[in-house]
Amino acid sequence: MISVSTEAEKKVIVEIKGVNKIYGSNHVVKDLDLTVYEGEFLTLLGSSGCGKTTTLRMVAGFEEPTSGSIRVEGEDIQNKEPFERDVNTVFQSYALFPHMTVYDNVAYGLKMKKVKKAEIKERVIHMLDLVQLGGFEKRYPSQLSGGQKQRVAIARALINRPKVLLLDEPLGALDLKLRKQMQLELKRLQRKLNITFIYVTHDQEEALTMSDRICIMNDGVLQQVGTPYEIYETPKTKFVATFIGETNLFEGSVIKKSGRKLHIAVEPGDFAVEDENENFNQGDMIAVSVRPERMLYSDTPVDGFNLIGTVKEQVYVGSVLKTIVILSNGNEIKIERLAGQELPTGGQVYLYWGNGDAKLIHTFDNVFAQAVENIVMQ
Ligand SMILES: Nc1ncnc2c1ncn2[C@@H]1O[C@H](COP(=O)(O)OP(=O)(O)OP(=O)(O)O)[C@@H](O)[C@H]1O
Ligand SMILES: [Mg+2]
Repeated sequence: MISVSTEAEKKVIVEIKGVNKIYGSNHVVKDLDLTVYEGEFLTLLGSSGCGKTTTLRMVAGFEEPTSGSIRVEGEDIQNKEPFERDVNTVFQSYALFPHMTVYDNVAYGLKMKKVKKAEIKERVIHMLDLVQLGGFEKRYPSQLSGGQKQRVAIARALINRPKVLLLDEPLGALDLKLRKQMQLELKRLQRKLNITFIYVTHDQEEALTMSDRICIMNDGVLQQVGTPYEIYETPKTKFVATFIGETNLFEGSVIKKSGRKLHIAVEPGDFAVEDENENFNQGDMIAVSVRPERMLYSDTPVDGFNLIGTVKEQVYVGSVLKTIVILSNGNEIKIERLAGQELPTGGQVYLYWGNGDAKLIHTFDNVFAQAVENIVMQ
């Protein structure tokens, strides 16, 4: 079951409003609006260079926005000195002090704040227990594995009891097995301490596993913010549909609208779909996204669909049968289903899908993004 809480119940902790960041002629963050709620695990996800680190650095106060504002608990981040901010950061490279023991690395922030020795000891021991490094106090960073170093870095950031912890690809340097284990540990820690995490990754599986909400960015433009379920099930842009998981995209236009039914022409055929939310009109450009596990085929024509293809190949992957069907325009359609009867390779199939299995996306998003950029650059 998905729990839904109303906006009013949640307390805003970080508010990013109309933020742009321009380096010379490079516009790297474009008109970003994002609200982060207390206690949530929010992930910034996007490909390399899309502006994730820049956004995080602006929230940390290391970088100033070219325009727009960032508030943490209602206060502009730029008005505070770094040590006064309730925000701590963990980077991909652990940045531990090599000449200090694990204990001293973790205690560092508290010593700077002149916390009493006895309290420092209690808090360091407790924090090391939380990150499962009890007994490692006297070791030096060079005597630790990658995962252990990263846990020290996390303990060092968390000991200051920040309201918000920013994590920039903190697991990037770890091997896959350790990475998966640390994902679960980090999530457990975040729940237990109820600290807001803003987490950066370009790994979609990591984002889907760990986050309460995911914020997808492409080329400095926020594409969609939502729960992992919303992002996967109802992508709002073509970019999101293709970035998260695999999908089949049919691009074309609405040639006729009768009630909620849209008749759509695409290059290699046409079909009818329900427009449940009545978002589209005749003449609109549209992309229809159908996940491989929702794609169906038949050896006889199916009412409402005129999409004919040729079976190119079929591969068993465990219990799943993956089929590739080629359409007349050369596009490959991916189909996944539980293993069953194989189709003859080279045979003709009629493609279709169930009601509600196609996601309808307006395809002016790139033009729109460009328009936003033009306005900001003027
Ligand atoms: N100090 C800087 N001066 C000029 N350009 C910069 C600076 N910092 C970042 N950029 C540019 O801004 C863009 C976004 O960089 P950013 O580091 O935010 O990307 P990212 O999404 O974190 O990518 P990655 O996944 O590779 O870490 C890039 O094109 C980068 O070259
Ligand atoms: Mg980065």
